[in-house]
Formats: sequence, C-alpha cells, structure tokens
Amino acid sequence: MNTSVTMDKIVSLCKRRGFVFPGSEIYGGLANTWDYGPYGVELINNIKKTWWKTFIQEREDMVGVDAAILMNPRVWEASGHVGSFTDPLMDCKKCHERVRGDKLLESKIGVEDVVKLSLKQISELVHTHKIPCPKCGACDFTEARSFNLMFRTYQGVVEDSAAMVYMRPETAQGIFVNFKNVQQTTRKKLPFGIGQIGKAFRNEITPGNFTFRTREFEQMEIEYFVKEAEWKPLYDGWRESMNNFFVQTLGFKKDKMRWRQHDDNELSHYSKETWDVEYEFPFGWGELWGIAYRTDYDLKQHTKFSGEKLEYLDPETNEKLVPHCIEPTFGVTRTALVALLDAYEEEEVSPATDVKPADVRIVMHFKPSIAPIKAAILPLMKKEPLAGKARELFAQLKKNFMVEYDESGSIGKRYRRHDELGTPFCITIDFDTVEKDDCVTIRDRDTMKQERIKLSEVKEYMQRAIET
Ligand code: GAP
Repeated sequence: MNTSVTMDKIVSLCKRRGFVFPGSEIYGGLANTWDYGPYGVELINNIKKTWWKTFIQEREDMVGVDAAILMNPRVWEASGHVGSFTDPLMDCKKCHERVRGDKLLESKIGVEDVVKLSLKQISELVHTHKIPCPKCGACDFTEARSFNLMFRTYQGVVEDSAAMVYMRPETAQGIFVNFKNVQQTTRKKLPFGIGQIGKAFRNEITPGNFTFRTREFEQMEIEYFVKEAEWKPLYDGWRESMNNFFVQTLGFKKDKMRWRQHDDNELSHYSKETWDVEYEFPFGWGELWGIAYRTDYDLKQHTKFSGEKLEYLDPETNEKLVPHCIEPTFGVTRTALVALLDAYEEEEVSPATDVKPADVRIVMHFKPSIAPIKAAILPLMKKEPLAGKARELFAQLKKNFMVEYDESGSIGKRYRRHDELGTPFCITIDFDTVEKDDCVTIRDRDTMKQERIKLSEVKEYMQRAIET
C-alpha cells in the first residue's frame, strides 16, 4: 500500500473535510479557482496571525500597512511591471491551447538552463525538440511572445483606457508608495521594515497543482529598508529568520526545505540577489518563499515617476539618502498548501490479518498553533447529563480557543474525523466525569494516548500545548 502523500490525496481530503472546495462548483466551476472552507480559512488565518505576530508585533523595527489593491497605473510603469512582468506565451496551432514556452522546455533541457533563454531561443528549441502540445499532442506552436501577467479592470462607469487599472500583482508596491507616510508618522530609524498581508493577482498562463499556482492568491511581504553599506548582514539575518519561521514556528519538516539562489539570468528586473526557499512537493522541488535584495530600485523609480522625493534624513549625519531594500516574501496560500502536505500521514493502527485489511488512520499533524480546531469536546453519548456537561465545557473553552462540539456517531468515528482535521486534542466527557471525579479524558492526536485530567485544568493544559 502506498502511504505517501500525493496531490490527489490532499485535494480529496480538503474537499471531504471542508478545507478547500473547487471555486463556483455548482456552476461547473471556474478553472483554477479555489474556495477555502471552514477549516481552510482557520488554517489560513492562523498562518497569517502567526506571521504577523512573529514579524510585525514581536519586533521593534517593524510596522504594518494594508494598502489598496487598485493603485494608480503609473505605479506599475514605475515598478517595471508594465514592461517586464511577462512570460513567454506559445499557442498550439492545432487546438489553440496556450502554454508557457519555458515550461514546455523544462523536461528537455532542465529548469536552470531554461531561465537563460530569449524568446527566439525558446521558439527554436521547442521546434527542434518537436515538443508536443500537452493537450492534443501536435508539434506545431506559434513563435513565443511576451505575455504580460497583470490583470486589468476598469474603475468608474466608463470602460476606456483612461479608466483602466491593474489588479496588483504583488503587495510590495503598496508598501513602497507609502514609504514616506509610514516613516514620517512612525519616526522609524533605519534599518526598519514595513509588512503587509493581502491578495495579489496574476494572469498565469499555466496555473495548476491545486493551490500551488493560482491567478488569485495571497501574499505576506516585508520591505526592509537599510543603508546600502549594511545590506548583506541584514539580508543574511532575514534568511535565518525565514529558516526559523519554517522549522520552529510553523513546525514544517526541515528535510523538505532547501535554499536555491537565482542565477543572473533568472533575477527579476529589480533584484541584485535572490534566494528561494524551496519545498519538496509531491511534484518536485518548488518555490515556497523568496528573499530579494531590491537595492534602491523601487524608491528611486517612484521618485522619478511621481516627482515625490522618497528619501530618508539620517538624524545622526543629517545626510539625505535613498534607503536600499531587502524583501522577504511569503505566499499565504502556498504556505497553507505546504502546511497540509507536511502534516499528512497515513498511519497503520493495526496490521492486516487473514480476515481483515490493515486499519489505517489519516492524521494531520499540524502544529497546534496553526491547527484549525484546537480541541473537540465529545460527550461519550448523546444524552443527559453527559451532553449538558460537555456543552458547558465547550461554552467555556470557546471564549479562548477555536473548539468544536461533536456528539454524533461512535466515539471512534469522531476521533478519526478529528484526526483528519488535525485537531490536537479530543476531550471526552463520560459518566465518571459527572458522577465521580470531575475529570475528563484527553486524547492526544499524534500518540493516541489518553490521560485523565481535572476539568478545571483543561484550559491551562491547552494553553500550554498551543504556545509550545
Ligand atoms: N514582491 C515579490 C514577489 O511577488 P514572487 O516570487 O513573484 O515575488 C512571492 O512571489 C511569493 O508569492 C512566492 O514565493 C509564492 O509563495 C507566492 N506566489 C507567487 N505567485 C503565486 C501564484 N500564482 N499562486 C500562488 N502563490 C504565488
């Protein structure tokens, strides 16, 4: 039996248990859109809360913003996205499938070499290698051309070019355009950073792999402003913080993570040095987060295009300077996908016999701090006085934790459901609780061990487990 995690298993668990549903499902869906269900939204919110606490609230050198998604289109001219935020698009002449030329080539010449190619070279190689269309199998593509990934929409009642605005393709620019507002109102001294969480939109040519690459997604980004001479040690410090966030804070498996540096041809138009944090997905290693040294590119570009001087007055030297910027960037939705993949386990609870197949439980080992539900309150039976006592505990815990009351089905089935939801604790109220000892049984999700503790100690017990 293959017990390893696959994308299909995760997609199926997400639908079955209410983490992620296909978007607009009752209308036949809308390609590559996904809706987060009751447990998915808790997971996402916990990841965002943890990120905000770690990188904004617990640090003295960080503050947050929440900028508008729609921005003046000149922002995107200044940032370079109008000119450079493109992918090489090719059309199959037979079935009209649209594909990314570089992605077609990856299986033939390797990912690292593909990023170095010009549009002309991509076209030539796709033709010489006779790469077939993934949809119809024909080997007849148009020449590769640049396709801008920004979504456009119209602001106001007139749909003409004057009213055209872009849906932001990254949250970063909302930070750069507010640099002066934030620095002046908070009086922060260099080095300091501004963080933001929010939606971003990219008209990806080949979205896919479930929520890995979608056209609408969410980011958590930091722009950390420094003096030019100081960028390197601070950059390395941020890489260390990203490591800690992955391993300690989110509790992901260390051996599933690696760092990969972008070579010169792969660098974005604004970056002098970029590293990706990669995760080993079931489909191979892929980017999870990134960190770029954006130099003074963005602040200088916005100064040029807006006419507003985005400078910093050094209080010690009285010198005016344009800060340089280090950008640690995190995908929210991609982190949630990794949380799901990383937590998944199929565990043989009892081996197969001649008459019975093996009993296998699926368990999601989320770190308790990001688990959607922290505890399930289960009366042993759906009758009084057990149900009443369980409801009492539920009402009490609900003030502090996301907990669920569950009284239907056998206790075994309820345990299994909560194993799949990744609920760290199942708390059972039985006859002894009400008649004898005022204690409950707490079952640990990972070890399945049960212990009896006093009702009055449950809250503290959970608090301890969630904080570690
Ligand atoms: N401001 C820099 C920036 O946007 P990026 O590497 O293009 O850099 C940052 O994106 C992060 O956003 C990625 O590491 C990834 O986690 C996430 N991301 C990017 N495109 C995505 C997509 N189409 N779907 C889901 N997540 C995406």
